[in-house]
Amino acid sequence: MFNPAKRMKQFHQSVFTNLNEQKEKYEKRTGKKTIDLSLGSPNISPDPKIIEALAKAIHKPENYKYAIKPLPKMIESIQNWYHDRYEIDLKKDEIALLQGSQEALVNLPLIYCDEGDGILVPDPYYPVYVDAPKMAGAKILYTPLKKENNYLVDFTKITKEERQKAKMMIVCYPNNPTGAIAPDWFYEQLIQFAKENDILIVHDNAYSELLFDGKKGKSFLSFEGAKEVGVEINSFSKTYGMAGARLGVLVGNKEVIKHYKILKSNMDYGIFLPIQYAGIAALNEGGSSIETTRQEYQERRNIMVKEFTKAGWPIQPSCATMFIWAQIPDQYEDCVQFAKELLNKTGIIVTPGLSFGEEGKRFVRLALVQDQKIICEAADRIKQSRFFK
Ligand SMILES: Cc1ncc(COP(=O)(O)O)c(C=O)c1O
Repeated sequence: MFNPAKRMKQFHQSVFTNLNEQKEKYEKRTGKKTIDLSLGSPNISPDPKIIEALAKAIHKPENYKYAIKPLPKMIESIQNWYHDRYEIDLKKDEIALLQGSQEALVNLPLIYCDEGDGILVPDPYYPVYVDAPKMAGAKILYTPLKKENNYLVDFTKITKEERQKAKMMIVCYPNNPTGAIAPDWFYEQLIQFAKENDILIVHDNAYSELLFDGKKGKSFLSFEGAKEVGVEINSFSKTYGMAGARLGVLVGNKEVIKHYKILKSNMDYGIFLPIQYAGIAALNEGGSSIETTRQEYQERRNIMVKEFTKAGWPIQPSCATMFIWAQIPDQYEDCVQFAKELLNKTGIIVTPGLSFGEEGKRFVRLALVQDQKIICEAADRIKQSRFFK
């Protein structure tokens, strides 16, 4: 009776809902528990100081008001964070507070793209990079990330037509799903490319603190000229284990921030004050938990690489993020067939790479969201099932 609008034809049930259905079927059929390595939902608790700040703020009735303007202390803490961590001075009009960074990824195409305007998007991609252009009626222009190119965008492959059509470009390093990071020269090229072609850069830095082996993540804004051509999003979800609390930032070009705030003021009434207090505690007192979190993901990565390889599945370590981008063996037609058989034979759930774009056809994404003991159990199941023999 209620026919959805035409634009809804482009959207389907999310891959994670499908995987969850497969999980339930497997558990019902076998009576055994699955090991879920699909969704990147952090299972590392936030620092107790963050939880305390939230709990304290939640008991105060005055914190239940609309929060049209962010708390001054919240903005000041973001300025200090960017200054201390990245040596970047952010003015107040260069900062917008978000209900998670996903919010900006949805809204920016609505702000900058008319019907048919192009958005350069990496392939493989984090799913909202393609869902948001669809909502805005924009055209998606894929920039393939190839293993042989260390999963970096190859600017020479972007055609003249694509350059002319594109209004915006989304770039994400540390990268989900490949776990790749970008060297300085890449950012320099990116800024030059944006200037030459008048394209707005949106740099997704959601995994800025999850780099391994002693490497340190940078901000896109630390590179000369970046503020002239773009913005960066950052998130409290992975760094502080606050994914459900929904808090993120959009920082950089002040014109973009101004337009962003105009749209946002028509969409919501700001971020629940207790969550802002939790964010303030995270930025000012939660620093030590970042190192613990990074160490834990790094150990999980090391164990997964070692134990899965021993069990017959040689996977490569990622440089960053909470994911491993694993190639599937040659005998499988594609990642969907592989993931299905892996689930049926071992009870392990992975995300087929095709959920992140065509370039993911021969890959699956493994999320480091299980404790080390469970990762070892997964390796044991792979070995026992002789899956890779
Ligand atoms: C690359 C990337 N960007 C953005 C997000 C969104 O994060 P949030 O909205 O929780 O800040 C995620 C979440 O998984 C992500 O992987």
